[in-house]
Amino acid sequence: MPEIIKRNAELKIRLDELRKNGKSIGFVPTLGALHMGHMSLINKALKWADIVVCSIFVNPTQFNEESDFDRYPRPIKEDIALLKKNNCHFLFLPFLEEIYPKNHKKFSMNIGNLGDTMEGANRPGHFEGVIEVVHRLLSIVEPDFAFFGEKDFQQLSIIRLLVQKARFTTQIVPCEIIREKDGLAMSSRNRLLTTSQRSHSPILYKTLKKMALNKQELSPFALKEHFLNYLKTNKVDVEYLEIAREDNLEAIRKWYKTIPCRIFIVARFGAIRLIDNISVAYRPK
Ligand code: PAJ
Repeated sequence: MPEIIKRNAELKIRLDELRKNGKSIGFVPTLGALHMGHMSLINKALKWADIVVCSIFVNPTQFNEESDFDRYPRPIKEDIALLKKNNCHFLFLPFLEEIYPKNHKKFSMNIGNLGDTMEGANRPGHFEGVIEVVHRLLSIVEPDFAFFGEKDFQQLSIIRLLVQKARFTTQIVPCEIIREKDGLAMSSRNRLLTTSQRSHSPILYKTLKKMALNKQELSPFALKEHFLNYLKTNKVDVEYLEIAREDNLEAIRKWYKTIPCRIFIVARFGAIRLIDNISVAYRPK
C-alpha cells in the first residue's frame, strides 16, 4: 500500500526522516484518474530515487472551464490500487486548504512567449493555475527529482522555467509519451470518450506521424495547411495544429537540421479535448 498522507506537516515529518537517512525523493504530481502514462512516470521515479511520492490533487485553479473540472474523473480506489501495484511509497492526497490556506500568497511569474501560444492562448488562466499549484507542491514536498510527461510539452517547458525562476533545487525529469496500442496518447480524459469518439481518436497520432514523415516535401506552413485540410475532411474539430521549436515554442517557417522541433495538436471530440505532439525527428520503428 502506498502510505496515504493528507497534511503537509505530516508529509514533511515522514520525508525529513527519510532524508536524514540519506534517501532521495522522487515526485510525480498528478490530477488522478491514473493510467499507464502516469505509471511510466512512477516507474522512472523508482529508478531515479529511493522514495517515490505521487500526489493526486484536482487543482481547481488550472481548469478554465468549470464543466471540465466538474466532470474530471476521480476514481480514487482504483488509483490507490494502481499505485500499490507499481510500488509507489507515498500518496499525497492533500485537502484543498493544505494547498491553498486562507493566507496563501499566490505565486506568479512572467512566462513571456512560452505562455502566449497553444495551451496559453486557448486556455486562459490555465498556466497561472499550473504554476501556482506546482510551486506549492514543490515547496511542500521538496523533492530531489520531479517527473513530468512530454505529452504536456508546453507545461514541461513552463515548469522548467518555474524551477529556474523560483530557484528550486529539484531536477525536472522529462518522460516520453505513453500510448494505447492504436496510438492514442494515454489520458485521464480518454475514459470520457464515447465508443465512436474513441474509435475516431487515433487519427490524431496517425496525422502527427504522417506529418513528421512527409516534412521534407513541404514547408512547415504548407504541411500544416495540407493536414488541417485532411483533418477537416475527416471531421476532426481541430483547436490548433502548430509546428514549433522545442526550446522556445516559437512556430517555425523553415526546417532546421540542428534545432529540435515538434508538431503539436489539440482537437475536440464532442466536449472532450485531446492533446498530443510528436518530435519532427520521428523515425518509424
Ligand atoms: P495530469 O494530467 O494528471 O498529468 C500528470 C503527469 O502525467 C503530467 O506530467 C503529464 O504530462 C503526465 N502524463 C499524462 N499522460 C501521459 C502519457 N500518456 N504519457 C506520458 N506522460 C503522461 O499534468 C497535470 O496532471 C497537472 O497539470 C499537474 C502537473 C499535476 C498540476 O496540477
